[in-house]
Amino acid sequence: MATALITGPTAGIGRAFAEKLAVEGYDLVLVARDEARLKELATELTRLHGVSCEVLAADLTEPAELASVEKRFADGPVEVLVNNAGFGQKKPFWANPIEVEEKQFDLLVRVVLRLTHAAILPMIERGSGAVINVSSVAGFFQRGTYSAHKAWVTSFSAGLAIELHAKGVAVMALCPGFVHTEFHDRMGMDKSIIPSFMWLDAADLVDAAWSDLMSGKAISIPSRRYKFLVTLGRFTPRTLITRISTTGLDGRRRS
Ligand SMILES: NC(=O)c1ccc[n+]([C@@H]2O[C@H](COP(=O)([O-])OP(=O)(O)OC[C@H]3O[C@@H](n4cnc5c(N)ncnc54)[C@H](OP(=O)(O)O)[C@@H]3O)[C@@H](O)[C@H]2O)c1
Repeated sequence: MATALITGPTAGIGRAFAEKLAVEGYDLVLVARDEARLKELATELTRLHGVSCEVLAADLTEPAELASVEKRFADGPVEVLVNNAGFGQKKPFWANPIEVEEKQFDLLVRVVLRLTHAAILPMIERGSGAVINVSSVAGFFQRGTYSAHKAWVTSFSAGLAIELHAKGVAVMALCPGFVHTEFHDRMGMDKSIIPSFMWLDAADLVDAAWSDLMSGKAISIPSRRYKFLVTLGRFTPRTLITRISTTGLDGRRRS
């Protein structure tokens, strides 16, 4: 059976990926900090789908723990990597301790860079494999360090997709809009200010992402409303985007 490694499967989008890939028949390597939750998930997925699940408890922002996860790609074949672990911050860049900003930079950028590198070398040798890097529609807009990190993830993944296509390795940036997960609660955001039609379901998102990967897309933007929003954003004057941003529609009201 083929193996998939997923970061951040204890909640939200990562959990939906774990469930989807188990249904698709993949054995799983589950990576996050909360070991008890990882083990519970592993037991449940094995019971429901008969797949084998390895648990790697690691804080990916800790270099030694990240290195132990990187080593897993040399220890046995991993056909699919889902770089998903992440967190957001309610306050703007200048109001956060620089150490917290660095942690976010490490998790959203450095970890994605390093795990992608570790994963694709054996994939290139085998001539097959896939990497899904969970980015965000936020990366298409300029809104703080989170947007900047996700812009990097999208650009990095789309560029690599072109370079690796001929080598049989697929790379895709998944760019979700608002998704019901633990993300916003963890960052202390008031979710009620986001209109209900803007929210996506994690399982639907992952189904759409998987089908985009299968059809060879390098950038996946699930749902018509977010495809429209991203297209609109490309043609909207920066002054208007600035005005919309300061209304706090993204849950980070500044005034
Ligand atoms: N939800 C949205 O609206 C939304 C929209 C666009 C993009 N995204 C992106 O989607 C991805 C998943 O977010 P989500 O919404 O599913 O969030 P979530 O429900 O809060 O889940 C985050 C996952 O990341 C793991 N994680 C966090 N810090 C970690 C660390 N230092 N080391 C290892 N694992 C860590 C968490 O597990 P532990 O706590 O057990 O470590 C958890 O499994 C993120 O990259 C996020 O930026 C989310």
